[in-house]
Amino acid sequence: MPARIAGTGRYLPAKVLTNDELAQRVATSDEWIRTRTGIHQRHIAAANEQTSDLAVHAAREAIAAASMEPDDIDLIVVATATPDMIFPSTAAIVQDKLGIRHGGAAFDIAAVCSGFVYALSIAESMVSSGGARNALVIGAETYSRILDWSDRGTCVLFGDGAGAAVLVPAAEPGILTSHLHADGSHRHILCTPGTIQHGAIVGTPFVHMDGAAVFKFAVKVMADVAVETLAAAKLTPADVDWVIPHQANIRIMDATMKKLHLPEERLVVTVDRHGNTSAASIPMALDIAIRDGRIRRGQHVLLIGVGGGFTWGSVLIRW
Ligand code: UT7
Repeated sequence: MPARIAGTGRYLPAKVLTNDELAQRVATSDEWIRTRTGIHQRHIAAANEQTSDLAVHAAREAIAAASMEPDDIDLIVVATATPDMIFPSTAAIVQDKLGIRHGGAAFDIAAVCSGFVYALSIAESMVSSGGARNALVIGAETYSRILDWSDRGTCVLFGDGAGAAVLVPAAEPGILTSHLHADGSHRHILCTPGTIQHGAIVGTPFVHMDGAAVFKFAVKVMADVAVETLAAAKLTPADVDWVIPHQANIRIMDATMKKLHLPEERLVVTVDRHGNTSAASIPMALDIAIRDGRIRRGQHVLLIGVGGGFTWGSVLIRW
């Protein structure tokens, strides 16, 4: 049976960190950050907020929007690059914090900024094959914990947050098709390479990025995968009502829209207020555009993810 999204939700930590505040910490400026990235501000998790806490807030909103109770959920997939701990999975912790006790499946996806697209595609396969009934798919991140706050090349880019969607079986397909890709040979241009060995951290535990290389790669693969997914649904870019790409940099999004010959009015943008929230960026943008009425029944919505790995992918939805 096909699957569709029955409800979405999001959560942003209360603390807002502006560009001007960052300029007091590192050699940067509001002007540089705005013009090079489109970011004006980002949210930062409180010291006592874990990734699972952000995820639970977003999940509760999504479950309520789907007119369900937590116990109705029998699959939880959390996409995150900033899990609460090495193990157990953040999804298992979310299940516990939601008070779900019936033993449904829960696991994490590690596909970095493409994580939500990966998670949604996998959950859709499980729901449509009957392996799960009501799936909770979450993208949740606390990148503020893995940033070197003295490195202006990375610390100005990221923020914390969580977005969630509930996926249910449906007579008509809501999720039309999806395509996922990876190329591990590019793993060094965007990584957090540190590991724990014998009680010590070996290698840097902070985000490392070759920004220019990531930029170039992202623009190419986002447009390519969008065309691939649309072709599989026998559609063209002109049939897309809303494009929700991973929110890393407004210039990457604009370049992707240009390559697809789509007007910027069809682009959903949150990077200005959220910064790059990795796996959380797409579900938060989706939730915003649904709740403010931009996305309407019957419209085609294209989600495009890209991130460390390198990973990339897209999901086409008929809302
Ligand atoms: O989630 C997916 C992963 N992330 C991305 O998709 C990010 C992809 N990359 C980017 O968004 C852009 O490459 C950046 C925003 C990271 C950088 O923008 P850029 O236009 O590629 O700048 P650049 O790295 O070429 O740096 C230009 C200059 C350099 O100075 P010099 O060498 O020209 O003197 C940098 O040192 O800007 C300098 N710079 C800064 N200046 C002020 C780098 N970061 C900053 C900063 N403030 N925060």
